[in-house]
Amino acid sequence: MTYLTDKPKASITLSTLNKFKASGEKFSCLTCYDASFAHLMAIANIDAILVGDSVGMVVQGRESTLPVTVDDMVYHTKNVANANQHALILTDLPFMSYATIHDAIASSRAVMQAGANVVKIEGDGELADIVRVLTKNGVPTCVHLGLTPQSVNVLGGYKVQGKTQEQADKLLKDCEILVDAGASMILLECVPAWLARQVTQTFAVPVIGIGAGVDCDGQVLVMHDMLGVYTRKPAKFVKDFLKDDANKTGDILGAFITYHQAVKNRHFPSVEHAF
Ligand code: KIV
Repeated sequence: MTYLTDKPKASITLSTLNKFKASGEKFSCLTCYDASFAHLMAIANIDAILVGDSVGMVVQGRESTLPVTVDDMVYHTKNVANANQHALILTDLPFMSYATIHDAIASSRAVMQAGANVVKIEGDGELADIVRVLTKNGVPTCVHLGLTPQSVNVLGGYKVQGKTQEQADKLLKDCEILVDAGASMILLECVPAWLARQVTQTFAVPVIGIGAGVDCDGQVLVMHDMLGVYTRKPAKFVKDFLKDDANKTGDILGAFITYHQAVKNRHFPSVEHAF
């Protein structure tokens, strides 16, 4: 099968996102797990695609992201990469696949060879050694802080993080340690908007937010959520772009285009989506 657009393959790189940050241009990111949706995202100019381990919940029907394997991530990354013609591809390393440096190297090799441009790992400053080794070996890392779904059993549920000054100070310190270790991007999930603003203003690397307010450099949503395909109650930060008034065609491509433009024009997220 050939894909239709005349766009060059994968025109967005990390340098593009760095330039967006420097110039104040926001960037859009959506999760994606297969070629057909990756193709539509290219037409909609979505800047970054996250092959998220949310695949476990929205595609595989699991209760959490914990059952997802490296093989799953390789499979879905290949599907997306085959059709990608525009976006930077970030792929999650799944639960316990980067518990040691040896595992982190093996898992990163697998997803990078499948087509990822960046690997995303969840945690805190303790990830510094892994970030350092991966960076040295040509693997850019996106560090995911705040609500880290792989630690749902430690956190005791999917709750907003960083609400106390002590937690906020720790998150800022963790970001500093990880950026110093070489992290190329930060993803903040479910943290207060003021804390996300501070992280975004403090660090030179692009910061992606989900439930992290309006001020992050980029925004990500789980694709199924922004298409209104819910299997559980949607979180406060979710918006259904299929039904959005600005989606003139009312179809899936229209939803992707509407989301991309809403992020670029700073219409999404709004205060009602923030904590
Ligand atoms: O796996 C995923 O979809 C994610 C997002 C929630 C950011 O990590």
